Amino acid sequence: MKVAVLGPGALGCLMAALFREAGADVSLVDYRPERVARLRLQGIQVHTLEGGRLVIKAPIGLGPEVGPCDLTIVAVKAYQTETAARTLPGLMSQGGMALTLQNGLGNLESIARIVGPERLLAGVGLLGVTRQDEGRIIYAGRGIIYIGAPSGSRVSRGEVAAVVNLFRRAGLSCQPREDIQAVLWEKLVINVGINPLTALLRVPNGVLLQLPEAWEVAVAAAQEAQTVAQAAGITLSGDPAARLRQVCTDTAANRSSMLQDILAGRPTEIEALNAQVATQGRALGLPTPVNDLLTRLLRAAAQSAPFKVG
Ligand code: PAF
Repeated sequence: MKVAVLGPGALGCLMAALFREAGADVSLVDYRPERVARLRLQGIQVHTLEGGRLVIKAPIGLGPEVGPCDLTIVAVKAYQTETAARTLPGLMSQGGMALTLQNGLGNLESIARIVGPERLLAGVGLLGVTRQDEGRIIYAGRGIIYIGAPSGSRVSRGEVAAVVNLFRRAGLSCQPREDIQAVLWEKLVINVGINPLTALLRVPNGVLLQLPEAWEVAVAAAQEAQTVAQAAGITLSGDPAARLRQVCTDTAANRSSMLQDILAGRPTEIEALNAQVATQGRALGLPTPVNDLLTRLLRAAAQSAPFKVG
């Protein structure tokens, strides 16, 4: 199976490196020629918390250089999905599949607008991976990845199983899911709790468990998201606080993706996370005051960057 990974961020680099290590035919795709040249030279460096370091030279190219692929993994930030999706028709082979492994809601819809829903897969990963520098990442938390065909997709069970096996051969724990829409919401419930709080307080995920007031806000945001999901007809089992606690424990040392964005002065994924809960809550007549406030604070944090003191 020929695979392209779109986006050389933390997740994209990790996927390309692990697949390459496992002998898969994988290429990393970027849109910036200077970065492609640098990454070709230096390779991808994967550091582990145990002090291990791997340098992997996976093929890296601009979209048009990477031939038609059977599977294209979209690993860009949610705010880049629309732009990245425009490269998909040139990357996907006839009958090829596109798999989004991104945070938040709205990515599937943006991709489907360009290539249609028929060959789409959604994946949800609870991995802790931090981008240290260009092409240099820390693999901090080994979680599970779920993959499934969302509604409107015609990807067969056999094809899903083949993709799941590809991930497993790369050493990742991966499972097929028929209810991937619910899994996307389960991850959203976690992200709306962990990401904005860790970004505002500038702490790793595990520290939230030690800050009772921050923890209460994170749990309240997650509970609102779960209530909105249920009102939207998505059945989520279990207690959001317990799920949040588990992920904070499993990825304790990890800097959330939103904290990494804030520290690097990049836009954050707040619009695909807490803002989505607020918007969908409004449409269903449900108040979401905690998600509203966190959305505003993160928007303000981004706007305030040029005025920072100290
Ligand atoms: O966005 C993230 O950082 C991740 O989804 C997670 C699971 C919160 C771990 O940091």
